[in-house]
Amino acid sequence: MEENILNPNLIEDEDFSEVSLRPKKLSEYIGQTKVKESMKIYIEAAKKRKESLDHVLLYGPPGLGKTTLSNIIANELGSNIKITSGPAIERPGDLAALLTNLSENDVLFIDEIHRLNKNIEEILYPALEDFCLDIIIGKGPTAKSIRLDLPKFTLIGATTRVGALSAPLRDRFGIVEKLELYSVKDLTTIIERSSNILEIKIEKDAAKELAKRSRGTPRIANRLLKRIRDYAMVLGDGILTLDVTKMALEKLDIDDLGLDNVDRKILETIIYKYSGKPVGIETLAATLNEEVTTIEDVYEPYLMQIGFLARTPKGRVVTASGYEHLGLDYLK
Ligand SMILES: Nc1ncnc2c1ncn2[C@@H]1O[C@H](COP(=O)(O)OP(=O)(O)O)[C@@H](O)[C@H]1O
Ligand SMILES: [Mg+2]
Repeated sequence: MEENILNPNLIEDEDFSEVSLRPKKLSEYIGQTKVKESMKIYIEAAKKRKESLDHVLLYGPPGLGKTTLSNIIANELGSNIKITSGPAIERPGDLAALLTNLSENDVLFIDEIHRLNKNIEEILYPALEDFCLDIIIGKGPTAKSIRLDLPKFTLIGATTRVGALSAPLRDRFGIVEKLELYSVKDLTTIIERSSNILEIKIEKDAAKELAKRSRGTPRIANRLLKRIRDYAMVLGDGILTLDVTKMALEKLDIDDLGLDNVDRKILETIIYKYSGKPVGIETLAATLNEEVTTIEDVYEPYLMQIGFLARTPKGRVVTASGYEHLGLDYLK
């Protein structure tokens, strides 16, 4: 798989630096108006009732703010958050340890919840529904099952693949919210906010240009902002002008719509290798030497959003605007 600055799956650089760009309050969380408004109501209602918030499932492509929002929800509830992930919970004992260490109204955040083991999922069901944990003590004929009461907690699950969640698990979330790709306007605001925090001087039209090329994804916007800052410092006076921004993005091989070489390769593979005929996702992934999930989660959402790629029953096809963007004639 190719190393790629636009791949929002890559570990975020900001985790290793002192200044965090993650907003801490709902009011600082930009865009996603619908999700924000409903969460605000649910949080206030739970606080008024002095009850734990219903379990929350957040889904959407990587880099859109699922982890950030989960932390904000806990913060707004005034609760502690314990953070783990689907693949990190290997044995039933791991989950039991997490659950029994929670306090009343705590938030348990499970990232990549679609990757939970089946046997772990089954222990989770009674915990979510009745706030209890069934554990078996001993072995063979003398084994006994005992039931432990758990504090009332809130599970927040995050996933890029809601379709991969089992139906019984999905049904146990009272609140299910989908995060959407961000508009250029919202991304511009995010870039200006990040520039402020990082003390970067960026001109308005440069922020907008960068927003246009960030594939609707805040993580990409922030990452590109830091890269462009490097160019501005070395080649200019440190101010991010439109010219510096355009030049840096060109050096990074990112075109005027934010597509990089992998995006272009996806389109070109369909057009040249398969003569523009519909291509199945497995075939496409194998030809490109990428994972099916990477193409589906990382590349496709944006290519489909801008209308360059379409899903048909027979496979993926490039649309007329996709051809046009690559400077090719579209022959139907
Ligand atoms: N709504 C938002 N407003 C401002 N910044 C955001 C927002 N959503 C995400 N970000 C920024 O983008 C980065 C990636 O978000 P993250 O929560 O890690 O995404 P996910 O968990 O969905 O992959 C965060 O570190 C944060 O700086
Ligand atoms: Mg995350």
